[in-house]
Amino acid sequence: MARVYVTRQLPGTALERLAAEHDVEIWPGHMPPPHEELLARVADAEGLLSLLTDRVDADLIASAPKLRAVANYAIGFDNIDVEAAAARDVQVGNTPDVLTDATADLAWALMLAAARRIVEARQAVIDGDWETWEPQGWVGVDVHGATLAVIGAGRIGRAVAQRAAGFEMDVVTVDLGDDLHDALRRADFVSLHTPLTPDTRHLIDAEALAVMKPTAIIVNTARGPIIDQAALASALHEGRLGGAALDVTDPEPLPADDPLLQAPNLLVVPHIGSATATARAAMADRAVDNLLAALDGHPMPYPARVDPPPPA
Ligand code: DGY
Repeated sequence: MARVYVTRQLPGTALERLAAEHDVEIWPGHMPPPHEELLARVADAEGLLSLLTDRVDADLIASAPKLRAVANYAIGFDNIDVEAAAARDVQVGNTPDVLTDATADLAWALMLAAARRIVEARQAVIDGDWETWEPQGWVGVDVHGATLAVIGAGRIGRAVAQRAAGFEMDVVTVDLGDDLHDALRRADFVSLHTPLTPDTRHLIDAEALAVMKPTAIIVNTARGPIIDQAALASALHEGRLGGAALDVTDPEPLPADDPLLQAPNLLVVPHIGSATATARAAMADRAVDNLLAALDGHPMPYPARVDPPPPA
């Protein structure tokens, strides 16, 4: 029986499976454990089930000499120092596949909401501003038949592209090494699906935004720092971009007084890409499967690695 620290209560029954085999302690808070607290709690743990809000850095790994397995409750693992973990033979796992469709659906929800001005239109109804049927009221842009650039050809990017067929869109898929700016120039909609790495931090910077159509809408359900938010705010304020719909921001949570929120044609939701009951319970199962395997001396079934390329 190994000691396992879990940084939040999770949906479903996966944690019961873990507790049946190991000595499990669960952080009871709604907010993440403060970093110092996390360090203290994992000091004698062999397993850690972390969330994307937990920084699993070199310090944490150094201060947990018995640690053998870190299972992240997310597909992204930019919160984990994977090199420090590998240097200590600590296995790191994530939760692929089970959140692909939920996240792709959310990307589409954001794209459609931004294109058809759903949030402003709803607000107008609530504010009593729906006076009559207006030929020029709440006019948006067409999604059907438009050009969609999917940046990142992993599982979620491919699922977003698949859904575009129903809208008879032209889809341009861009992977690292492809001509990003060419795709951005052509796109009416841009949806981001790359992991956050040193190469993709601020991939969408002032230069990238400058080549986009002034009517284009950008959607981010990947990681906030992929977009340079100051550059995005300027582009929106200056009317150089049609709109942005963000599930992820930098930082998270985005403070209510962050200047970005003053920008026009902006829709922000609080990192809910995988937030369906099915996806979140399945993610818990994958994280627990990873821990059970690693603590039993086997390779994790879902080791953290960058998305495989599309099937040939
Ligand atoms: C992930 O899994 O990386 C998402 O951002 C949250 O589910």
